[in-house]
Amino acid sequence: MSIIKRCFDAVVVGGGGAGLRAAIQLSEAGLKVAVLSKVFPTRSHTVAAQGGIAASLGNVTPDNWHWHMYDTVKGSDYLGDQDAIEFMCRKANEVIYELEHFGMPFSRLPNGKIYQRPFGGQSQNYGGAQAARSCAVADRTGHAMLHTLYQRNIRANTHFFVEWMALDLVRAADGSVLGVTALEMETGEVSLLQAKATLFATGGAGRIFHASTNAFINTGDGLGIAARAGIPLEDMEFWQFHPTGVAGAGVLITEGVRGEGGYLLNKNGERFMERYAPNAKDLASRDVVSRAMATEIKEGRGAGKDNDYLLLKLDHLGPEVINSKLPSIREIAMKFANVDPIKDPIPVVPTCHYMMGGIPTNYHGQVVAPQGNDPEVTVPGLYAVGECACVSVHGANRLGTNSLLDLVVFGKAAGDHMVEYIRSTPTHRDLPKDAGDFTEARLARLENQSSGESVAEVGAAMQKVMQAHCGVFRFPDLLQEGVTKILQVADRVARTEIKDKSKVFNTARVAALELDNLIEVAVASMVSANARTESRGAHDRADHPKRDDANWMKHTLYLKNGNQLTYKPVHLKPLTVESFEPTTRTY
Ligand code: FUM
Repeated sequence: MSIIKRCFDAVVVGGGGAGLRAAIQLSEAGLKVAVLSKVFPTRSHTVAAQGGIAASLGNVTPDNWHWHMYDTVKGSDYLGDQDAIEFMCRKANEVIYELEHFGMPFSRLPNGKIYQRPFGGQSQNYGGAQAARSCAVADRTGHAMLHTLYQRNIRANTHFFVEWMALDLVRAADGSVLGVTALEMETGEVSLLQAKATLFATGGAGRIFHASTNAFINTGDGLGIAARAGIPLEDMEFWQFHPTGVAGAGVLITEGVRGEGGYLLNKNGERFMERYAPNAKDLASRDVVSRAMATEIKEGRGAGKDNDYLLLKLDHLGPEVINSKLPSIREIAMKFANVDPIKDPIPVVPTCHYMMGGIPTNYHGQVVAPQGNDPEVTVPGLYAVGECACVSVHGANRLGTNSLLDLVVFGKAAGDHMVEYIRSTPTHRDLPKDAGDFTEARLARLENQSSGESVAEVGAAMQKVMQAHCGVFRFPDLLQEGVTKILQVADRVARTEIKDKSKVFNTARVAALELDNLIEVAVASMVSANARTESRGAHDRADHPKRDDANWMKHTLYLKNGNQLTYKPVHLKPLTVESFEPTTRTY
């Protein structure tokens, strides 16, 4: 196979919010930047973000970044790194005004200021009254943001490689990253994209679960590539289940519905969140609401003939509010649940939504990996931002609308750091002689495998194991069994075959390559979850129902080689303010 070589200052893998925000910094600095995206950039999964982007503008309720920081640390169940959290919350207002100046069409208050709505876990005065912190474009905030960032990149002359999939890292003998190999999906042609700096912004991997709010493209590509290249994955046991996915379809119904005054009911018409979170009720943190819903269903109070979903009531908001503030929600409910929420409640269930873990980074977006006794040595030339990265601002549980904020704050920070790094790197380094060999071997295995397994069947088996063994509630026997089962699935992934090669389209090849990435994420998640013997944030174990700060106030690092686990300390010290000390977390 011949590999074409192309040369850039920077390669950005992923055309969602994080990748596009970083690319703006790089292109506007006059650098030659390639953005690779499996889909047209404005169809990246950021487009599905609905309810808003958090910032303490204080347009609706009094607010400041200290309160936002407190809520984020508490929401993370104290596992978040407080230096990164301070960085993100302090920068929030600045990045929102920047988006506004880029042309993002925020919804407006009557006084012309940016509209903000309440979301779960947002408080005034360190745990007091509900705050309204999520800046929104109706219920299409991610859509508006993605288009704004894409257009700004066009203006800055960013080079887009659309329908291209990154395959593997190219590393020098000293570990520095020199670029990636990538597949042009339409032609099947493989290229080596050489760069002084490479950024992963490949998004989430929610497709390891059977029921997910994630797009089909969310296959953990950056994580799979990193794991194969010997880079650890951090805190992979922490998966967020969004309380309100449409039952049976998985499509997201924004928490903004509850922010606007909607609430959850069980089959008896009871507003059950009053029992689980007496103060915040339906706007408690997502892990709390999802567990309450799972408990209602488990105890037989779910609605429907199988008692397997809850009801999200919003008809009392009236058609005016629903049509102006939640128009897409109405459309989704009608299309996917056959109910008009102006009249009837929407059937919802907790659904896999977000990966708190990812490729370990510092708050400049530099990838960090352990070396000797130092757990956080930077990998020269490699950066990661957005959902694929673990910076870690979300710790064990993310607050709603902090994800879009994470994308733009750390996308910009990584872009800035990369500009400096690239300017201090005068020439491209020589590529190793074997650059591309690993990718060629992977592709050759797929082409040459015969009597192998079907990609679709093995993928479905992976999703079934994750759903049954690593869900909202976790049990020791199920986790232990889950490790055995997911490793068996991993063996099957290594034997997958593209069936009926005479008729093969690259979609089949891409699906097989995506499964290679998904399985790395699935194994890392199951192994990490089995090992963490406490309950914290989204990780809830029946045999260890309490948070255990004495033994588990630490980040997990999973290494593919031998499925090894090591741990590193949480950054409890912020940049300039006092630490928020761990206390009991109630809402
Ligand atoms: O509920 C939502 O609108 C989702 C927001 C988020 O995950 O941040």
